Amino acid sequence: MVDHVLLTGGAGYIGSHTFVALRAAGFEPVVLDDFSNARDDVPERLALITGAPVTIYRGDVRDRVLLARIFGEHSIRAAVHFAALKAVGESVARPLDYIDVNVTGLVALMQAMAAAGCFRLVFSSTATVYGEPETWPIPEDAPRRYTSPYAFTKLTCEQIIEQAAVADPRWACATLRYFNPVGAHSSALIGEDPQDIPNNLVPYIAEVAMGKRAALNVFGNDYDTPDGTGLRDYIHVEDLARGHVVALDHLMGGGAGLTVNLGTGRGTSVMEMLVAYGRAVGRDLPHVVAPRRPGDVPVLVADPGRAERLLGFRAERTVDEMCASSWAFVSRRGNG
Ligand SMILES: NC(=O)c1ccc[n+]([C@@H]2O[C@H](COP(=O)([O-])OP(=O)(O)OC[C@H]3O[C@@H](n4cnc5c(N)ncnc54)[C@H](O)[C@@H]3O)[C@@H](O)[C@H]2O)c1
Repeated sequence: MVDHVLLTGGAGYIGSHTFVALRAAGFEPVVLDDFSNARDDVPERLALITGAPVTIYRGDVRDRVLLARIFGEHSIRAAVHFAALKAVGESVARPLDYIDVNVTGLVALMQAMAAAGCFRLVFSSTATVYGEPETWPIPEDAPRRYTSPYAFTKLTCEQIIEQAAVADPRWACATLRYFNPVGAHSSALIGEDPQDIPNNLVPYIAEVAMGKRAALNVFGNDYDTPDGTGLRDYIHVEDLARGHVVALDHLMGGGAGLTVNLGTGRGTSVMEMLVAYGRAVGRDLPHVVAPRRPGDVPVLVADPGRAERLLGFRAERTVDEMCASSWAFVSRRGNG
């Protein structure tokens, strides 16, 4: 029998790629998404890529009536919880909205799961729970601290999951701390599609490449790094999606709950990423140097060892593959 898996936020950037990976691995994903940050045509594109219709509920993860209905209509064996608000800057202006969607959403989901006897959960966490670390690569047992309301919500969610698992040993939860997901699916049908000013580096560079923005602002080129610009750990979204499949396989096989970083362990600088994207596009892309931003750290790189030890997971795709797939998606999307 095919295992049904609830994917909250499954029409979003990482959720849609995970949908494809789960289907390829023999799971049947059921999507719950309110489309507050997803395009209406994503389900159609997922059906095109995977060759089968998509079961999708349009609604809010905080809607307990809807959650009960979904669990009543499908025999769901596990959930992967992506649905959240994710813009760090916006969270500073709207902390209560972030707490409501991210924290209340998780609690509503876990209560609906428990009521349905479903105790396997994969949760989207983030490297921002490490705050501003002073050493790297960052292992999972590094101190957690938050420096924004967004990070507060993710750290709180991690702690809620920990508390639930202490109280009821039936819970088996995989908390996945993503580093910097970039790139797009090899079909170029789905990818990162910000509807506003991009918050992340690669979508911003993509807009420079498309001519929508004049130049990339490089915030600080005097850090203590080889070229003076910040180093981050970029992971191809298809690798990240596979990370969810291996985490789910682990839980479905009776594995215990765990917390792992999903990154490559390699740092790529802002300038290296700009040059790599230029290679994908076939021309140099302009940049201007701007002052450092408060709160930015010079280096944020994962120790990916635990994911490899516990799950056999290792991210494989290169920075050039990340840029080429992003550009293929963005240029296709730009042309309709
Ligand atoms: N993209 C990153 O850089 C990154 C890094 C670390 C962690 N994460 C986490 O990964 C998860 C997915 O991120 P993403 O980049 O795919 O973001 P995304 O915005 O593309 O996806 C989130 C999806 O959830 C949906 N959604 C939002 N609020 C909802 C609600 N109340 N009810 C139902 N659906 C709702 C949105 O419409 C969207 O489709 C999030 O939890 C995010 O915090 C993302």
